[in-house]
This record gives sequence, C-alpha cells and structure tokens, in this order.
Amino acid sequence: MIEFKHVTKVYRNGTIGLKDVNVKINGGEFVVIVGLSGAGKSTFLRSINRLHEISEGEILIDGKSITNAKGKELRNFRRNIGMIFQSFNLVTRSTVLKNVLSGRVGYHSTMATLLGLFPKEDIELSLKALERVNIKEKAYSRADELSGGQQQRVSIARALAQEAKIILADEPVASLDPLTTVQVMEDLKKINKELGITTIVNLHNVELTRKYADRILGFRAGELVFDGKIEEATDDIFNEIYGKEMDKDEIMVEE
Ligand SMILES: Nc1ncnc2c1ncn2[C@@H]1O[C@H](COP(=O)(O)OP(=O)(O)OP(=O)(O)O)[C@@H](O)[C@H]1O
Ligand SMILES: [Mg+2]
Repeated sequence: MIEFKHVTKVYRNGTIGLKDVNVKINGGEFVVIVGLSGAGKSTFLRSINRLHEISEGEILIDGKSITNAKGKELRNFRRNIGMIFQSFNLVTRSTVLKNVLSGRVGYHSTMATLLGLFPKEDIELSLKALERVNIKEKAYSRADELSGGQQQRVSIARALAQEAKIILADEPVASLDPLTTVQVMEDLKKINKELGITTIVNLHNVELTRKYADRILGFRAGELVFDGKIEEATDDIFNEIYGKEMDKDEIMVEE
C-alpha cells in the first residue's frame, strides 16, 4: 500500500507541484492519474520513488516511510518500484536481454553488474519476463532495432525482471500509435491482474482512462480534486478535472 499524508511539493522556483495531497493506494490496484498539463501528475508519480523530493508531509509504502529513508533502506524501497517512461529509457545500443537484465542490478554488487556478470537465474527470469510481454524472440536484438511499442514492452519486462511490486508509468503510451497503445496498455493490465503488481499510470487520454482504470485520481493545479472508481467518473467529473468552461447556454439555463 502507498499512502500520501499531507504531501506538498514546491519546486525551487516557487512553483507548486503538489498541494496537501492525502491518498491511499491499495496493493494490486490499477490507478490512472489524469489532469491537464502541469497539474502535477508526474510530480505525484515521481514523489513515490523519490525521483522528486517532497517539501512537506510523508509518503509511506507498506506502512514504512520512504520520505527520510537513506542508503540501503532507500535502495530496498526502490528495488520494489519499477518505472516506465514515455521515452522508454533503454540503452539503445545494448541488446534487449541486457536491458531487461539491468532490472536486476539492485540485487547485486556494483562490481558484478559493471562487469555484466549476472547469475543464470537472472537470465532465465529476464527471458521469462520477455515471454510475458510476447517479445522473447527479440532477446538478442539491439534495442534500437525495435519499434516503439516493442521498446516499451522491453521496459515493462525490465520492471518484471526487477520483481517490482509497484509499477509507475509516466505517460507510457504518449509516443505510440493507437494500435500499439492498446497492446502496451493490455500488457500493463495483464501483469497487474496476473501478478498483482500495483500499477499507477499517468494518461492524457480520457477514452483510454475509461477503458483501463479501476480507479481514477484527478489532479488540478497540484490538488487532488477527484478520487473515485471509474464508474463514478462521469463526463461532468472529467470536465471539472480538466477545468472545461461551461457552455454559455448552460450558464443561461442555470440563471
Ligand atoms: N523541475 C521543475 N522545476 C520547476 N517547476 C517544475 C519542475 N517540474 C515540474 N514543474 C512544475 O510543476 C507543476 C506540475 O508539473 P508536472 O510535471 O507534475 O505536471 P504534469 O501533470 O505531469 O504535466 P504534463 O501532462 O505536461 O506532463 C507544473 O507547473 C510544472 O511547470
Ligand atoms: Mg507529466
């Protein structure tokens, strides 16, 4: 479980990223974060694994505070959290398998991983992860020989090899075409359901949100303005989150 307690993030230049956010995300949930550009979606996601430091409040993971964790303790927290980016973040000149194996670095000494020495079990685990996202046959291809959708699946496989309990995906499909988008979202949903991995995804697209979210968190100017099940997120709610102005006619009728 992930818990935000009165979390505020103010960037150094004074911009408010998050404003007194309180929320609990349960193990195994598939949560979609929505909101306008600049609403705080990435800040929220990146606060969880401390890619961004928060200014006030506390974030708990399974009841333990990550906010002040240091050294080994912080590494152990991070080992359980996989991150997926819009831009895939792969080492494009390396093979697919090596990229997936890099999910294992948190489990070994720096020296061993620098030398690329991974035990046989890690290689098996990585191949299994690739199989789960249907690209095992690409294991020995260079990452930059893959299509965008395939590259995103490699980054999902990397999170699986990492044995992450939580996956944070920051607009994982923003640079993909509609068909590939669906495949990647299906993969994320599948591993969420089959492996019980808590998944938090930032999305811009309302249609995709409706299709995949179990629960929606809506942000506006750093504030959590909606938290509810997908069934509760009506068009009106979306308009509110996105701050769409009411039709002039509607306003007249109201008056
Ligand atoms: N490194 C930074 N320094 C200063 N301000 C920042 C920084 N990163 C983000 N911000 C600001 O914090 C606010 C929230 O940004 P954030 O990136 O979380 O939004 P977002 O909802 O992810 O937007 P988008 O949909 O465009 O990705 C915005 O006003 C943004 O300009
Ligand atoms: Mg963002």
